[in-house]
This record gives sequence, structure tokens and C-alpha cells, in this order.
Amino acid sequence: MYDELLRPQFHFTARAGWLNDPNGLVFFGGWYHLFFQHNPFDTKWGNMTWGHAVSGDLVHWRQVENAIHPDRLGTIFSGSAAVDWRNTTGFGEGAVPPIVAMYTSAGGTSPESAGQPFTQSLAFSSDGGETWEKFAGNPVLGHIVESNRDPRIVWHEPTDSWVTALYLDKNDYALFTSPNLKDWTRTCDVAIPDTSECPDFFPLAVDGDPAHLKWVFWGANGCYLLGSFDGKAFTPEEGPYRLDSGANFYAAQTWSDIPAADGRRIQIAWMRGGEYPGMPFNQQMSFPCALSLRTTRAGLRLCQMPVREIEGLRENSVIRADVALLPGRPVDTSAGELLDIEAEIEPGHAKAIEWCIRGSIVRYDAEKRVLSCGDRETGYEAPSGLLRLRILLDRTSLEVFSGHGEAAFHLCFVPDPAKTRVELIAHGGEARIRSLAVHRLRSAW
Ligand code: FRU
Repeated sequence: MYDELLRPQFHFTARAGWLNDPNGLVFFGGWYHLFFQHNPFDTKWGNMTWGHAVSGDLVHWRQVENAIHPDRLGTIFSGSAAVDWRNTTGFGEGAVPPIVAMYTSAGGTSPESAGQPFTQSLAFSSDGGETWEKFAGNPVLGHIVESNRDPRIVWHEPTDSWVTALYLDKNDYALFTSPNLKDWTRTCDVAIPDTSECPDFFPLAVDGDPAHLKWVFWGANGCYLLGSFDGKAFTPEEGPYRLDSGANFYAAQTWSDIPAADGRRIQIAWMRGGEYPGMPFNQQMSFPCALSLRTTRAGLRLCQMPVREIEGLRENSVIRADVALLPGRPVDTSAGELLDIEAEIEPGHAKAIEWCIRGSIVRYDAEKRVLSCGDRETGYEAPSGLLRLRILLDRTSLEVFSGHGEAAFHLCFVPDPAKTRVELIAHGGEARIRSLAVHRLRSAW
């Protein structure tokens, strides 16, 4: 178990069955909870249930009992969770605050829910996330339009109220507010061009300055708007921009209730589209990344970098410095299935720098200022002529981050056992590896 041929070794997968969106991400009592869209009965999508896993470090996950099961209102589609510190719902008993999840009851997706519309419901845990119970008054938000879904709840301290961002239809989303997560008022409509499903909604400090916050309104394909929020209305100021340029990044969500002393906004995505022939499971999550909002050459943008906890998996590191990259002569940097690579490359006279990683090509075109991974590309200019790349390689995925994560790619691949090499090559002129650290990782299982 967990060592099958195509089983990712440091990315979350369900023990068995299908997985899609991350749901209900919440931190409580030292544990990161990861719920996920899950089909417990098949490796194909269906019977949507909230699977559940816990981790103390975002790296080592333990899958526990499924948390929320289909009922007569529908199968359980995506949603979010938060700690109700003030027990505004009244679901808490004693000293432990309840954790509350808001999810879509997808009516009509099972024989049991035939004829029901899509509505929004609550479930809660009064034992720190171990066991889950549904609210008897479900649904708490009735049907509005089409397959409205994917509520994202946020506690808004300045107005003492709950907010939910909900996907409606086409490119349309809306915000609702509530004193208790049960009674909701629609306060604002938002459209994100070319985007649908799975909103996320959160504030981030601009260039690390806590006195200067912007709100991010996010859709499933990674397009987002930046703006301000007064507790009722979100006012878009810029965007849409897109965070990830890779082929396999969808329905990302961020963790609620990470303590202020930590302060990170941590995101995980479904790496939609990967293939795992013959495996008992299907689909994998991305490696968790910390988000930041930075002033880049292109303007203010979200950036993502893998969380530092991955360093705990490093088992041996090869460090090199000052290596010439002669045009057309590949440098063999390492071989292996599980790697964490940090590289600083001076393109010098080279027209392009190319990594060949188990057959996948990651390329920086220094002339056109384009970074690509597989068949996807994005405009990127290495600042002061220094290309800094961070690359995570697992058995079935490749994640590439430039600089502070201004440009990033998440890519799934089916490994070819004959392709084990990781090589670096310069084209059209000489380049230089200023530094290269290749860390072999051990399995998290
Ligand atoms: C996004 C999505 C959500 C929905 C869920 C169903 O991938 O389509 O909109 O809630 O998946 O599994």
C-alpha cells in the first residue's frame, strides 16, 4: 500500500477510489484537515462524499473515516470549513469550539435525491474534526440558479459576521453574509471572466505589509481578481490574472484558521487530468504552497512556493557551484524519482536553457523571455539575468516555480521507466550554473 508503481510519494492521494477538489481545508489543534471530493466506490467520478485526511506538517497525511456522506438532499459537492471560535452556530458544547463545514447538497445526482435542486448545507464537528454531523435544518441557503455550488466561508472579524462566496452559473459568483452561518443575505455579485466553479476569497498583505491588505477573489481555473472588501461588497480593482500556467492545476483552496503566529496562506489544488492506469486510486493533489502577493515586473501578482515543511523529507543533497553549461552539451544533474531541486542559472550567451526531467521539458527562452513546461508557457523575465528555479519531482508529477513563484507550473505525467535522467543543457551559447542543489527526497508514506 502506498508504494504501487504510480503512487505519488509526497503528494496526497486517496488510499483507493477517485479524488477531485480539495474541500473544507481548516487547521485546528495542531492538525491540518484536508477533506476532498471522493468516490469511495470507484476510480471514476461519482457518489460524491467528503473524504478526510489529517496531517501535522502538510507532508505526512493519514486518511481517516469519510466525513460527510450523500443523503436525500444530494451527493456532497465541494465546500469549505472554518472554526466557529465564538460558537455563533450554537453547535459547540463545552470548551471546544465547533468546526463547521458548508457544502453543496447536489440534488438530482443520486436516485435518493431525484428532483431536488442544488442547495447549500452545513455539517459540524464538536470533537476537533474527528466526527461529523449534519445540521438538522439543512439546507441553509436555498436554490438560486442552475447548479449553484461550492460555498467558501470566511469569518470577517471587523464586522463580526460570516461571509460566503458562492459560484452561481457561467462566470458569476455572489457574496452572502450571515451572523450564524444559517441565515444568509446576498450582498454583492462578482463576475470573473473565463472562470467558473470553486471560489476562494481571502485577504493577503501586499509585499508583506500587514497594514496594506488586498482581497483575492479566486475561481477554479486559477484566475483571480484583486480588490477591496468592506464586509459586504467586494470591489474589484485589478485582474483577472492567472496564478498557475501548468496543465494540471484546478479547484485550489486555501486553509482557514492558520494561527496568526504562522501567518501563511497555504493552498493546495487538485492536479486535474493526471493518469494512473491500473492503480487502485485515481488523481492526486498538488504539493501545498504558501501564497504571497508581490509587486513584480508585471504589477501586483499572486506568487506560490512549496511550503518549507518539504525540507523534512530531504535525505541527501548534492550541491554544486560554478559549472559551465556549454552549448549543446547536457549536464547530468541527477537521477531519481523523488527530487527537490534549487537552481540558479546565468543564461549568459545562451538563447535558451532546457531541463529534461524524466522526459518532460522545462525551458527558459532567454531571447523571448518565456518559461515553458511541457506544452504550456508563460512570459517570464529572469530578474538581473539570473534564472532561479525550484523544481519538485514526484513519481507522476512535476512542479516548477521561478524566483518567488511569479511563474509556476503543475504538471502530471505517466513515468517511462526508461527515462530516469535529469539533464540541463544550454542552446545557442554558453551559460553558467551559479548554484545547484539537488535534494533526494524520501517517501512520505
Ligand atoms: C469542480 C467541481 C465543483 C463541484 C465538484 C463536484 O471540480 O465541478 O464545482 O462541486 O467538482 O465533484
